[in-house]
Amino acid sequence: MSEGAPVPYPTSPRPEVLTLSPYIPGKPADEVKRELGLERVVKLASNENPLGPSPRAMQAVQEMAESLHIYPDAAGFHLKTRLSQVYGVAASQIVLGNGSDEIIMHLGQAFVRPGDEVVMGDKTFPVYKTSTLLMGGKPVEVPLKNGFLDLEAMASAVTTNTRLVFLCNPNNPTGTMTRKAEVDRFLEAIPPRVLVVSDEAYAEYVGDEEYGTLLPHLKNGKNVAVLRTFSKIYGLAGLRTGYGLVPEYAAALINRVRLSFNQNALAQRAALAALDDLEHVRKSIRMVEEGKEYLYREFAAMGLKTYPTWGNFIMVDTGKDCQAVFRALLRRGVIVRPTSAWGLHTALRITIGTPDENALLIEALKQVLQEV
Ligand SMILES: Cc1ncc(COP(=O)(O)O)c(C=O)c1O
Repeated sequence: MSEGAPVPYPTSPRPEVLTLSPYIPGKPADEVKRELGLERVVKLASNENPLGPSPRAMQAVQEMAESLHIYPDAAGFHLKTRLSQVYGVAASQIVLGNGSDEIIMHLGQAFVRPGDEVVMGDKTFPVYKTSTLLMGGKPVEVPLKNGFLDLEAMASAVTTNTRLVFLCNPNNPTGTMTRKAEVDRFLEAIPPRVLVVSDEAYAEYVGDEEYGTLLPHLKNGKNVAVLRTFSKIYGLAGLRTGYGLVPEYAAALINRVRLSFNQNALAQRAALAALDDLEHVRKSIRMVEEGKEYLYREFAAMGLKTYPTWGNFIMVDTGKDCQAVFRALLRRGVIVRPTSAWGLHTALRITIGTPDENALLIEALKQVLQEV
């Protein structure tokens, strides 16, 4: 190599790696507190459950502490057996992940060849794009329509090169839901060789009989997959545990690409306990419903446009630079998610918190919008 030529990487990476952007995490809440000398910091940025984990899951984790020298069950037997009873699908159709985002990566690894197309919304959960780009695939990003996935346009975007379609339902960051009738029409238009993946991370919050989950279609033998997680309503984000309900052939392929112990033992045990903690789930739903009504009311009173949400978060348009609003809220101890990463400029995605946290957010936002 000639002298002075730039050598950015002593060992060159696969070119696909350079198409990815690293995830830039926010500072942890305790560090923000220390740095800014705040007494309280409220994190409403990652759609976690502010009620905490299911108490049954916490108990299960404590009881497992003395077995940490044992590898996890690579087959996830107990969790899969219980999930299979809950959903009425065969255990052989269930895959477990280190969070459901790992399963999104597995789908890419199992199905996407260089040049293959993967259809998704243009403002949606970013891991679909990461999973596609890493494998040399081409993300086909279809613009949302008024914050909703546009299923007609997504169906038209399917070509002979399409391998996967990702529906995010409810969609992150907008919170919007895709309805049953739309999903039914969509599936009729999609060739059976395309695997349609419905990421339903917020399904438990939806409570709408029009909800277009793909679960019934999976049970009818369609080539569709449903992803769910214990990170949201079950409050186990820190443990990293999610699952996919998928056609048997897809489970078999994912089992080839995943690491044997990809879901850790605590995660499996805690998930099993959380799944049956209906009291915790009910409480969480109630809190989100009440918080949603309160926030809608307050945002409307402030003259701010919100998107209708079926999740535990709301996207609100502040009409001001969302990075500036984000930083000013941070100085007041409220952490939210600006939407710049999705190419939006003035909207924030805000997790619905406890009544107390929501009130704090509204107070802070009122002050911030005066000064930004
Ligand atoms: C739509 C969607 N899918 C998947 C995930 C990832 O969840 P997990 O923690 O199970 O990886 C999230 C988390 O924010 C999400 O919003």
